Amino acid sequence: MCAAELSVYEAIRTRRDVRAEFTGEPVDDATLWRMLEAAHRAPSVGNSQPWDFVVVRDPSTLRKFADHVADKRVEFRAGLPAERAATFEPIKIEGIIESGTGIVVSYDHDRGGPQVLGRATVPETGVYSAVLAIQNLWLAATAEGVGVGWVSFYDPEFLTDLVGLPDGIRPIAWLCVGPVHEFQQTPDLERFGWRTRRPLHDAVHHETYRA
Ligand SMILES: Cc1cc2nc3c(=O)[nH]c(=O)nc-3n(C[C@H](O)[C@H](O)[C@H](O)COP(=O)(O)O)c2cc1C
Repeated sequence: MCAAELSVYEAIRTRRDVRAEFTGEPVDDATLWRMLEAAHRAPSVGNSQPWDFVVVRDPSTLRKFADHVADKRVEFRAGLPAERAATFEPIKIEGIIESGTGIVVSYDHDRGGPQVLGRATVPETGVYSAVLAIQNLWLAATAEGVGVGWVSFYDPEFLTDLVGLPDGIRPIAWLCVGPVHEFQQTPDLERFGWRTRRPLHDAVHHETYRA
């Protein structure tokens, strides 16, 4: 079966956060555009579409970001107790260079004007909308056989400067995007013993949270 014919359930099941499986080939422009179209079709509070996508392929920008992320990884590791640090050590947390393409997803709280329908009492709904665009992109990428890895080991100010986000526009994610030779069947954090997923039964409640 052609990867792009995956059912939505199959795409949800096979989607992985990818770090080590990028082939090193860049994603082609037509595929990338289809993924961005999928992202741009996401639901958004008040139809505000508060997202933008900065596609980064300049090797010097990828290198600068990778160096920054490496520093943040060291800082995180330094704050861990010895046993957790040992578990963390072999875990790869990004594929910035190998993927060849970064997509910075940004959020504009002013998009949609002062009265965004549905955001008055829950301001976070704007960011939720941008995250839904990311999930659409992630699933579309999976259907295309393209890997996505979300990187959040960065200082927002650094990334804002790196890709020239204007005042008031926040970075929400750096996504490493590229073809993969395989999708792992088990999340890396589980494979490396950092944290396992919990059963659905534990997450579903009836009538009240405590039930
Ligand atoms: C908001 C967010 C931030 C994340 N940041 C990172 C990151 O900085 N580095 C990384 O390797 N994975 C990151 N991930 C991926 C998660 O570790 C991954 O989704 C989780 O372990 C489950 O694995 P799976 O996506 O393969 O199912 C992030 C995921 C989300 C949703």
